[in-house]
Formats: sequence, C-alpha cells, structure tokens
Amino acid sequence: MGFEESEEQLLSKVATNGGHGEKSSYFDGWKAHDRDPYHPTENPEGVIQMGLAENRLSHDLMEKWIRKNPAAASICTEEGISQFRAVANFQDYHGLPLFREGVAKLMEKVRGGRVKFDPDRIVMSGGATGAQETLAFCLANPGDAFLIPVPYYPAFDRDFCWRTRARLLPIHCHSSNNFNITSSALEAAYLNAQKSNIRVKGVLITNPSNPLGTTMDERTIRTLLSFTNNKRIHLICDEIFSGTVFKPPHFISLSEIVESDPEFDRDLVHVVYSLSKDLGLPGFRVGVIYSYNDEVVACARKMSSFGLVSSQTQHLLGSMLADEEFTSNYLAENARRLKERHGVFTDGLRRVGIRCLEGNGGLFCWMDLRSLLKKATLEGELELWRVIVNEVKLNVSPGSSFHCAEPGWFRVCFANMDDETTERALRRIRLFVNGEIEEVEEKKAKKKKNRLAEGLRLSLPRRFEEEMVMTPRLMTSPHSPLVPATI
Ligand SMILES: Cc1ncc(COP(=O)(O)O)c(C=O)c1O
Repeated sequence: MGFEESEEQLLSKVATNGGHGEKSSYFDGWKAHDRDPYHPTENPEGVIQMGLAENRLSHDLMEKWIRKNPAAASICTEEGISQFRAVANFQDYHGLPLFREGVAKLMEKVRGGRVKFDPDRIVMSGGATGAQETLAFCLANPGDAFLIPVPYYPAFDRDFCWRTRARLLPIHCHSSNNFNITSSALEAAYLNAQKSNIRVKGVLITNPSNPLGTTMDERTIRTLLSFTNNKRIHLICDEIFSGTVFKPPHFISLSEIVESDPEFDRDLVHVVYSLSKDLGLPGFRVGVIYSYNDEVVACARKMSSFGLVSSQTQHLLGSMLADEEFTSNYLAENARRLKERHGVFTDGLRRVGIRCLEGNGGLFCWMDLRSLLKKATLEGELELWRVIVNEVKLNVSPGSSFHCAEPGWFRVCFANMDDETTERALRRIRLFVNGEIEEVEEKKAKKKKNRLAEGLRLSLPRRFEEEMVMTPRLMTSPHSPLVPATI
C-alpha cells in the first residue's frame, strides 16, 4: 500500500495509495464480464457474471407491493405528490421515524423475534459500505488494527482502511474445520499484532459469512465476545446476509447473545446491517449501524451526514416495512427461492464431482476446486481462475481475492441470475470439468488442419460449445501453460 513521494503529486497520498483495492482479481473478474457480458440472445457466448453477490430472486414481490401502494411508494406520482414538499425537504440525520421503526422491525423479524431493536439506536449510512467506514472512523486511530477471520469480503480493505488508515489483520482459519474461528487462532492473531507493535481495536466478523455462506454457531459468538471483552476491544458484526439464511441451523445474531447475557460489556458491541442483500436493494444504498454504545451512536450520527439515505427512499421503505404481512411473506418466500436455487446449483456441481462447503445462507457457495489445480499454490489458483473466466466464460472469484491462504477455493454467486442462465452456467462447468471441451477441441483442431489442407473455408460458430471449440485462444485447459497474461 506504499505510495511514492513526489512534489508533483497532484492528488492526496491517501487518494492515490491504492487502498481502494481495485487491482485485485475480484474486480478484474468484473471487468472481464463488463467487456463481454453474457446475454441470452445478444451475446450467448459472453461471460456469465457469478462474481456479484446480488439477490435478484424476489424483486417481483416488491414490484407487486409498489403497484398496490403507489402513494406510499413514490412522491413523484399523481398518487403520492401530496407528500412531495415534506419529503423532498426532509434532511434530519436521525432519519424519518417511520423508516427507522421499519428497519428495526425488519431486523427483529429476520432474527425470529428473539431480540428487539431500538429505532433510536439506528444510524443511517450509505449501505453497509458507509457503515463500516463510519465505525472504523469512530473506533480506530490511523495505524490501529481490527482482527478479521480469513477468508473475508475483499472490499473491507477499502471500507475499513482506505480513508481511515486503520488496518485489518488476519485471523487464520482453515478448511480442516470448515474455516471456523478458534480461540487459538484469535490469540495468535492478537499476539502477532502485539509483536509488531500494532494496537488492536477490535474484531470484525461477518455472519453469515461472505464468502463461506455459513452461519456462526452460538459457541463461536460467545468465544468472540469473551475474547473481545477480556482484551477490552470492540466486536463488530456485519449481519448484512442475516435474512438470506435458507436452511438450518437458523441465524443467531450477535445481538441475541449480548442481550441475553449481562456478563458482556455492551459498549464494545456494534452490528452492521443493510438492505442490499436481504431485500435485494443495493442501489438504494441503505445501510445501518446498530451500536450498543451511546457515544458511538452519537458520533456515527454526526458522520452520517456524509451518507444519508435519500428521504424519498426512506419514505418508500418506511411504508413498505410497516406492512408486516408483506415483510413476513417476503422473507419466507425469498428464503424458499434461495434454498431452491442453492439446491439446483449445488446439485449440478455435485453431479460433476464438485463439492462446496456446506452452506445455509448468503447468495453464493464456497466451491472447492482443489482437485483441478495444476499446482497447489496461489499462482496455480490464479491460473485456473483465468481459464474459468477466459475460456469457460464464468466470472467466479478466486479464494485468494478473499485473502484465503489455501489455494483452490472459489466463491460462486447463484442469486443474481435467472433459471436459464443458471442452467447455462452449470452446463459450461460440466463441459469444462468433464474435459469434453478439450476432447472436442482436439478433434476440431485435427479437422481444421485437414480442412485447411484441403483449402476449405471455416464457418463461424453460433453456440457456446462450438465457440469454445473453434477459438483456440480460448481453449487452454487448466493444465496448459498457455494461460493468457492478463486478467
Ligand atoms: C459482507 C458485506 N458487507 C458489506 C457489503 C456492502 O454492502 P452495501 O451494498 O450495503 O454497501 C457487502 C457487499 O457485497 C458484503 O458482502
């Protein structure tokens, strides 16, 4: 993250220090998709986007609600315009009461009603992204660190560290125990920081985990709480995927444990939430900090001026979330659809011998491709990843972009596409894993040679499989040394 000193530097050092993390394979995969995006009719051979943790499975439910409630949904329609002036003017950084109440109710519902949330503790932010930065700003000085279990969501480097200059230090987790966090790993991470003279201000966890798609059990949450309490450091839990849990074990929130046990110091506990995943609304930029610490609430609220949720969005969501029948049905139906899609996807993978970490939440699977690595190294992982992006034409994200130290794991998202695209993605994987692509390619190569010898012209392919066959540039197998140099 070093930056060059130069008198001619026009931008600030922070702005140019690379802290955004854009130069990673995680974002490179997105760029590959942007250059050649799959479309069922216009570009059927394009890259299918499986690197985006978006939930597009239940938008129809929301559209239905909006159609039924036009006045509540928008101040820019004939039905809603009477509210225009009041809503357009509203800019109180506490947020509309109806909105905060609605978010608090939703958080309760997602947690099965086992815990209550006080609307007055809800601080708005521009998505969970803004919430994370605000917390880092409130809790850490430049150079201070938060411990974080690896693998973790890559953009935390940007959100937590870029502008605040805080650091993230890894808590090493391993596939041997399904990447669970252990006390010894926590202690080791803390000790490492001490040895390097780095002040640890807290632990940052994500539950359900991105990229693992698993939920944390009560014992682990208690271990984390005891650890952070004993060290007098903060515990931040990003619960952005809490409403995506689609099968047992059910989701257990940090809030439930904290509220049920007076042993734990609440001043050290902070929860981050957002509507980007559970409600599939990342464009609305609705994030929330729920801190049990009054000072943090006050400071974060002042900071929230930088990322308030637009009052029109608050107006719509306040009304929608007040409709409890709707939210209950939405959450149940959304979980059902996620479960179904997860089942279809993991079954498809299993049929070709690919296993995933057993997941019960999130919008992705943590796929084990270790057996496909040519070399069991991070370089070998990237080599395989390039083949998958460039040749199989699927943008999946390599484990190394999530800081995973064990090569061969990939995150693959399954909720941002329709059924047909899912089937197509599975078919591509099947062809790739079964080596059918290679076999056909070999045959084709021979045929091509013969044809050329005969002076025959080749016609252009139309279907994906044929495209794979006909384009030698795209046909390197994971075991081939001919991996393209870029992305
Ligand atoms: C764990 C985690 N936290 C935060 C975010 C950012 O969410 P938002 O769109 O609310 O800023 C994401 C997005 O993928 C995420 O996976």
